[in-house]
Amino acid sequence: MTRTRMRVGFYQFAPVLGDVEANRRAIRRALAHPDAEGALIVLPELATSGYLFTSREALRRVAEPVPGPTTALLQEIARARGSHIVVGLPELDRRTGKLYNSAVLVGPEGVLAHYRKAHLFNEEKLLFERGDTPFPLCAIGGVRVGLLICFDHYFPEAARTLALRGAQIVCHPSNLVLPGRGQLTSRVRALENRVFWVLANRWGREEQNGRALSYTGESQIVAPDGTVLAKAPPEGDALNVVEVDPAQALDKRVTEHNDLFEDRRPDLYEL
Ligand code: ACM
Repeated sequence: MTRTRMRVGFYQFAPVLGDVEANRRAIRRALAHPDAEGALIVLPELATSGYLFTSREALRRVAEPVPGPTTALLQEIARARGSHIVVGLPELDRRTGKLYNSAVLVGPEGVLAHYRKAHLFNEEKLLFERGDTPFPLCAIGGVRVGLLICFDHYFPEAARTLALRGAQIVCHPSNLVLPGRGQLTSRVRALENRVFWVLANRWGREEQNGRALSYTGESQIVAPDGTVLAKAPPEGDALNVVEVDPAQALDKRVTEHNDLFEDRRPDLYEL
């Protein structure tokens, strides 16, 4: 049965580089807020570890398997609060020893979806393996939810693939560094696919071995018509939750005579 209303949101924060325990504590504290109860909450990319690693060795020290300690913690929270949580984390595949920039959707039943970032950004290519798994989709109470990670937003095919497979809500854990870009594309991807979009970006600045990155915050929740339903400031922790009707994302009509999916012309596209 498809539910009629659903509460979706993000927790924007500034993970501490390399301090997994502190980051898990911050996540636990945020998800204890009454607003998070019963909601689908999206956390940023690499939320357990921070982002600016300059060696595989340092990254390996904070990486973990899926399922693993973070998904166990989130499952415990999801059970207690009736919630679902999307988290970005550095994943260690114990079988191959490879590192992935991953996102996981966890519910009271455990891991419901697992994604390894397909489009690695800049120096991530020196640290992580590229993910080869299909863009994942799972159902929460009949509502289909898909996962992407940060730089995937530059590739419209990724969101389109999820939408064509039935995604109604796209969860987008991010560590955006190019001002305004992901905030723009998340609105465009929502509009061109008529899906809800939850961009959970981090904020703050990291410095490591002479390198520095500033993250752009401004996490946002976007409706299928591109309207921004909630937005965080560029800096500061923020938990924002809104109630949406996911069935809106099943209706792809834009005018009386236009349906976004029926009007597609794959015979003309080179994809
Ligand atoms: C990014 O993919 N973290 C920009």
